[in-house]
Amino acid sequence: MRLKLTHLGRIVGITVSLASCLTLIKTVEAVKKEDFKTCSQSGFCRRNRAYADDALAQPSFKSPYIILKDSVKLGDSKVYAEVKNTETDVLLTLDLFILQDNTARIRINEKNPIKPRYDDHAQFTIANQLIDSSVHKTSRAKDGVITILLDNTNKRKVIITSEPLRIEFIVDEKPIVSLNDRGFFNFEHLRTKESHKPKMVEKTNDEGAIELVEAESEKDLWEESFKTWTDPKPNGPESFGLDVSFHGFSHVYGIPEHSSSLSLKETKGGEGSYDEPYRLYNTDVFEYAADTPMSLYGAVPFMVAHQKDMSAGVFFMNPAETWIDIVKTKPEQKNTAQKAFSFGKKVEDTKSTQTHWMTEAGVLDLFVFLGPSTKDILRQYHAITGTPSMPQMFAIGYHQSRWNYINQRDVLEVDSQFDKHDIPYDVIWLDIEYTDEKKYFTWDIPKFPDAIKMEEELEHKGRKLVTIIDPHIKRDDNYHICQTAKDNGYFVQQPSGGDYEAWCWPGQSSWVDFSSPAAREWWKSEFGFDKFKGTRENVHIWNDMNEPSVFNGPEITMQKEMIHYGKWEHRVLHNLYSVLTHYSTAEGIKERTKVAQRPFVLSRGFYAGTQRYGPIWTGDNMVDWESLYYTNPMILSNSIAGISFSGADVPGFFGNPSPELLVRWYQAAVFQPFFRGHAHIDTKRREPYLLDEPYRSITRASLRERYALLPYWYTLFFEAHKTGVPMMRPMFMEFPEDEALFTTEDQFMLGSGMLVKPVTSEGTFAAEIYFPGDQPWYDTQTFEKIQHNGYKTVEAPIEKVPAYYRGGHIIPRRERARRSTSGMKLDPFTLVIALDNKGQAHGELYLDDGETYDFESGAYVRTQFIYNNGVLTSKNLHEDPSSDAATKYAASIKDVRIERIRLLGVEQPEHIHVVHPDATRTPVSFEYSVATGYLTIKDPKTLVSQGGWRIEIQ
Ligand code: NOJ
Repeated sequence: MRLKLTHLGRIVGITVSLASCLTLIKTVEAVKKEDFKTCSQSGFCRRNRAYADDALAQPSFKSPYIILKDSVKLGDSKVYAEVKNTETDVLLTLDLFILQDNTARIRINEKNPIKPRYDDHAQFTIANQLIDSSVHKTSRAKDGVITILLDNTNKRKVIITSEPLRIEFIVDEKPIVSLNDRGFFNFEHLRTKESHKPKMVEKTNDEGAIELVEAESEKDLWEESFKTWTDPKPNGPESFGLDVSFHGFSHVYGIPEHSSSLSLKETKGGEGSYDEPYRLYNTDVFEYAADTPMSLYGAVPFMVAHQKDMSAGVFFMNPAETWIDIVKTKPEQKNTAQKAFSFGKKVEDTKSTQTHWMTEAGVLDLFVFLGPSTKDILRQYHAITGTPSMPQMFAIGYHQSRWNYINQRDVLEVDSQFDKHDIPYDVIWLDIEYTDEKKYFTWDIPKFPDAIKMEEELEHKGRKLVTIIDPHIKRDDNYHICQTAKDNGYFVQQPSGGDYEAWCWPGQSSWVDFSSPAAREWWKSEFGFDKFKGTRENVHIWNDMNEPSVFNGPEITMQKEMIHYGKWEHRVLHNLYSVLTHYSTAEGIKERTKVAQRPFVLSRGFYAGTQRYGPIWTGDNMVDWESLYYTNPMILSNSIAGISFSGADVPGFFGNPSPELLVRWYQAAVFQPFFRGHAHIDTKRREPYLLDEPYRSITRASLRERYALLPYWYTLFFEAHKTGVPMMRPMFMEFPEDEALFTTEDQFMLGSGMLVKPVTSEGTFAAEIYFPGDQPWYDTQTFEKIQHNGYKTVEAPIEKVPAYYRGGHIIPRRERARRSTSGMKLDPFTLVIALDNKGQAHGELYLDDGETYDFESGAYVRTQFIYNNGVLTSKNLHEDPSSDAATKYAASIKDVRIERIRLLGVEQPEHIHVVHPDATRTPVSFEYSVATGYLTIKDPKTLVSQGGWRIEIQ
């Protein structure tokens, strides 16, 4: 049977047989922008944008939404009110909840919808029980203005104005965030086509007479076309829009995923602005371009605003397609309606950022976080959506992938080449070609005759295998997965009934409906070792194409009218599909062993909450310098939106890198959370050992540096798991007062103790680095002290990535070269102590078994190191150090010691002694480098699992 693929976006005009689907060939071309909608091609975006433009154009514009005074109910920490659209008389309900920790939730829904609007997604996104906060006082004035005093200082309050509806958050007498400030709130109620009264407007006809015609906004309400597709839109218009203003904030961040700057750009005029809103709609964009607000594989509707003394955040919890306009304005640009709302309050003459959120369907459900710092905002956001899961130790080592390692021999050959060249790595990956005709959960047996044996050989070296499992299932009556899903109704359905079918890698496919509880349970069970034959404990999973990518669908994804469990259209939950896939797979991996191991599942699609299930990567990037540059702002934008475990294909997916680009990309990725080499099927092999010298040695050194830093990385992952504060941080998160850093995206902080500025341009052997603060920095390679505030040019020859320890911090390292993380388990530590100007420093080390969930019941070591007045001490930060779990784990690493201490920025000492827990004193040998002023203390033999020792440097 031969099929003509007429629209595959990525596969244009190729004739392939089903049997030859194994090697679908891609044509190499740049992103096809015309395959993706602009705002004006998306009916609801166009309508909401036009609504906003009309509001701005009419000086007398007043939002038609008012609170019905008699409907208001004031509770202890909540307000309920009915809101009327005075143009249509449609009633809405407004619920405002004041939650713990400077958080508020606002929900607006239809009071009497003709059928329910989609709200079920909240159960997948809200990870924790929301706790109300008792407020100081709630009162209502005669004019209907409701004031909620959040505490008894009168400093933090929420003001709700009735006519028109407006909600304002005030801190220290200054408005921080306001909703419907510009009157763009617009809520399209559900209706039948028959009951719909079209909006009519006056128009002068050709004869000069005025006649009534249907308004432009009436276009596309009941059917919408894009290219060759028609979206039947059985529910008609059901979108909503809301403006959110951040007063006094010149910068907003987050809302990934876009290949764009860290500080988000304006989208409607302004310097260097985009002319389209940022779009959140998970899509598989082939060869995506840099510097655009086009949507990519993931969508997190969470935005953080930051100014010198304050941060604020909003989470627009909704998985339907969303567009966000951003404009920045001076206060004097406020319109008349806004001025009337100022309540005589003083607004500082800084720029404000005004955003306009437009969502296709569902219920308006918005969280506002008032920080006050960015780290506080992240804690508040993660209290709702859950903190990132704690990965296994191997997951943060180096991963080696390509599309494809062609057979079992190839896999083992690549594996042994790493060892031959003394290059560490932890995981080797198998892309789609390992399967029997892209039938996931099967093997191409001639190529992989004994997968278990291959996995055992990897296991022998402490290594893992990751195999790809995509959510599209080949239509084939002899394929058990397809058969079970078909028989049990686990596939997404067509509106007219029957399984949805379209094209993806296997050819004709159907998509598992992960919103169905039964389908999720079934999917999980398929990862059992008895089901997914050929896998064992060291096999983990990669979920790709889960936006979902549909080669012959509109915008390379699923038609919005397809039907999910509960009869919900795909439209209402599109961005959630990837999380449900990711969740089901991760749970399956967790459940397949008697003792649960932390699963490793990489996903391409993502949404709020993804952080609970595993890492993501930035998809099919290009092998070029510009794409390397964008890895930093993209990963930082993910980080600030809670997706802290992310990375990019190293050194780019499409194309063949020059050795210089490859080296620079590996150097950058050492400091990015997820570190995987991956390549398109048409590229030349580029495993690090294939490089010529000096590039091979330089890349080996980079990978060894990654492994040396793993104790620091792991401690940072634990911090993220506990608090939501990401490992890779924008500079302003650590230096919130320094305005020079608010747009910095080419250098970043790794935790609070390291600054990194990767070289991302060709032929560049120097770097201009901004050193913030008044404390010293220390070069991580030469230990040279840099006491400088502001920009400084440093040399960056090819073997050097500019990275610095921050004065005042202690960084734990493990410096013995090993094949993989498993060989490092009992290795001793090196502590780098980077002193501040007062001769002080502190830092932490977190350690557990790196595999199971035993750490949750106390099987871990958490030690704080403190250096003060020439004395290094340690403090046990374990919550319950005498518990069985704690003591048992400590016993398992009882001999693990500190073998070296590097003290940076210190005078030459005369003696160094260790004072042991039993008070005995032993001298320790040391070396001092006069040239750079650093001290190496040799083998003090202090144990990391045991406190009570100190090292005295005199
Ligand atoms: C698309 C993914 O983005 C890419 O990484 C992968 O190699 C191909 N799918 C084939 O599975």
